[in-house]
Amino acid sequence: MERAEFLAKFGIGVAAVCTGCALASCGSKSSNPTPSGGTGGVTPPAGSGNLFSIDLTSQLLNLGDSVIKSGVIVVRLATGNVTSSFTAVQVACTHQGTTIAYNENQQRFICPLHGSQFSNSGAVLLGPAASPLQQYKVSIDANNLLTVTA
Ligand code: FES
Repeated sequence: MERAEFLAKFGIGVAAVCTGCALASCGSKSSNPTPSGGTGGVTPPAGSGNLFSIDLTSQLLNLGDSVIKSGVIVVRLATGNVTSSFTAVQVACTHQGTTIAYNENQQRFICPLHGSQFSNSGAVLLGPAASPLQQYKVSIDANNLLTVTA
């Protein structure tokens, strides 16, 4: 194979690969439910006071169960209806706003888009995210109603 012929074929291959990368990047933005609106940071849900409540007699019954509401993900970390059995953090990844999920086996939140990982309290364990998730307070009343507070 001549050098010019090789470069021509190789060049086409690189172009095809790069086009694929570009399309993948464009496609991934469509799954972004909460645009960052800035350079890197994602604004957590606004407001203060009680954001919402969850009835623990019918939801979050098992370890690792989660509920996403009002921009917050609430996860059961342990048995018992006490506040230490739950965590509540912003659901939008602080990198580019993708909805994170809780991984019960790894005991952490993982962003499916670029793989950032966060502790149960929202601290960054693995980038590219550089900022922690905002954590929210939870309280539980005598009727097993869990309330998330900003
Ligand atoms: S959006 Fe990039 S790691 Fe979450």
